[in-house]
Amino acid sequence: AEITAIPENSKAISDLLIGIFFEDINYAADGGLYAELVQNRGFEYQLSDTKGRDKSWDSKKAWNFTGSQTGFVIDTVSPIHPNQQHYAVLTISEVGEGVKNQGFDGIPLKAGDRYNFSVFARGLEGAKGKLLIRLVDDSGKVYAEGSTKSVSADWKKLELTLTAKETIDEARLQVIPQFTGKVALDLVSLFPQKTFKNRKNGLRPDLAEAIAELHPRFVRFPGGCVAHGDGLDNIYRWKNTVGPLETRKPDRNIWNYHQSMGLGYFEYFQFCEDIGAEPLPVIAAGVPCQNSSCGGHGQQGGIPMCDMDDYVQDVLDLIEWANGDKNSEWGKLRAQAGHPEPFNLKYVGIGNEDLITDIFKERFEMIYKAVKEKHPEITVIGTVGPFSEGTDYRVGWDFATELEVPMVDEHYYQPPGWYLNNQDYYDRYDRSKSKVYLGEYATHIPGRKLNMETALCDALHLINVERNADVVSMTSYAPLLAKHGHTQWNPDLIYFNNTEVFPTTDYFVQVLFGQNAGDEYIASQIHLSNNKKEVKKRVASSLVHDSKTGDYILKLTNLLPVSVDTKINLVGLPILEGEAVLSVLQGNPTDEKARPENRTISLGEPFEYNLPAYSFSVIRMKSK
Ligand code: AHR
Repeated sequence: AEITAIPENSKAISDLLIGIFFEDINYAADGGLYAELVQNRGFEYQLSDTKGRDKSWDSKKAWNFTGSQTGFVIDTVSPIHPNQQHYAVLTISEVGEGVKNQGFDGIPLKAGDRYNFSVFARGLEGAKGKLLIRLVDDSGKVYAEGSTKSVSADWKKLELTLTAKETIDEARLQVIPQFTGKVALDLVSLFPQKTFKNRKNGLRPDLAEAIAELHPRFVRFPGGCVAHGDGLDNIYRWKNTVGPLETRKPDRNIWNYHQSMGLGYFEYFQFCEDIGAEPLPVIAAGVPCQNSSCGGHGQQGGIPMCDMDDYVQDVLDLIEWANGDKNSEWGKLRAQAGHPEPFNLKYVGIGNEDLITDIFKERFEMIYKAVKEKHPEITVIGTVGPFSEGTDYRVGWDFATELEVPMVDEHYYQPPGWYLNNQDYYDRYDRSKSKVYLGEYATHIPGRKLNMETALCDALHLINVERNADVVSMTSYAPLLAKHGHTQWNPDLIYFNNTEVFPTTDYFVQVLFGQNAGDEYIASQIHLSNNKKEVKKRVASSLVHDSKTGDYILKLTNLLPVSVDTKINLVGLPILEGEAVLSVLQGNPTDEKARPENRTISLGEPFEYNLPAYSFSVIRMKSK
């Protein structure tokens, strides 16, 4: 093959191309990225979280009482806060009785690490005394212990630090009152002191680092279907997720479990800042899930029009919370949470894969126009609805074009052949219309594991997207995270359990793109000695320039079973001869374990590169 750059034919492209899609699906938040180790810490789990499917799922889920069963009840009479309705009341008839939490499949401890324990407690009917807190294994062996101060007659937060003596993957937390009588407990929490960037109420470092490694330029949250929920009462409301933990309002998760909201909007924004990514909150367009992707709920009504003004105000309040002065009504809450400086929010998504019905249109238009009028500085990203083969997103695009929505969100999960056969997909897009945010995509065969075949199809697609990054401004692979044993959707980009992270082949494609982004696309021609269509569509390349580093980056995919000798001619570009960095991800199509390898190569003018069979290569070159 021969690749020849055409430097005179270049164009500016988006510098936000690679981002991430974070949704609390597959236990991505509680039990996942959110570092809390106690499951159901607020006794807020409800049978309805699982839509009645898991009969064991109630306010006592993950908890056991060692005394008589009547000694452990759930009450709602005088909670710490109306948003945290449930709490536990223990009747201790003998010192030694107490509750035990099993964590999310156990509580992992590391020898020498410190853990912050806290609990809201209240002695009832005059009971008082200390709480003994222990981290134990199933045989009762103690890994850490300490005592709180005494409980009092009013709700009081009690805290202590525990240091693990040994490493164990499946410890349990015990709370053992050192007195008899009644005690109320709520928000029983155990947090590792080691969180990502050592944030309080922070994130699991290994998972957060795996995400940061992608160099995502933006983070979309909180979904996906989680954003619009599966009914009016399940629409994600950002205001319920900020402020002190005891005031946050938990909700059922559309994927049939529970959202504690410990990982809420403040934490999402802070994470974005910590990894240098733009926050991209996605707000429901006043309608819940209407299509089959999150369970099939058919046509549903939206928020009643008489309540829409309040809903629109919530969206405007979000912008004030994120960007307003620390003395503004909502900016003050952000400042109180520890962030007086604005977060500099620039993008807001409205709607997630919604059917473009009249119910949707009416509500979307209200929100869109209000944001546009009050905050012209914010780029609103609309939705063009679910992908439908043949018609693509025609109805959604017509509506977005009519309203001149600056950017629209497209979603598709397609098998490998689709990416091979639709390489001109975005070449055909009208540049005068809305920009595209490819908010969810994956090379996808439902239930099948990711491997080199899917990774190379992702790479091929991203090469084609990069060529079109004047119209496609952002992309995010979906879903991002999945916990072993708690997965509702396969495949996903990063799998994990309590102690390990398992990146996929497709993750490394994202890493290579994220770490090798550019802001200028330089056209090139590719000639193959074998001119057959089936051969030609399996070799592709993309050349970009990154103005920040001055580097030129060439990406190449080869989906053929044979290597391809390639002559690369970049004459006319100010590329420094000498060494360049080459990263190669290579493996047989069924290989699930392939990892990129880096080495330096020598550049001449032109230079030769043997493109390995079934590979994705990135050559990063310095400029003169
Ligand atoms: O990514 C999983 C789901 O797929 C998202 O929640 C939804 O938007 C899409 O249908």
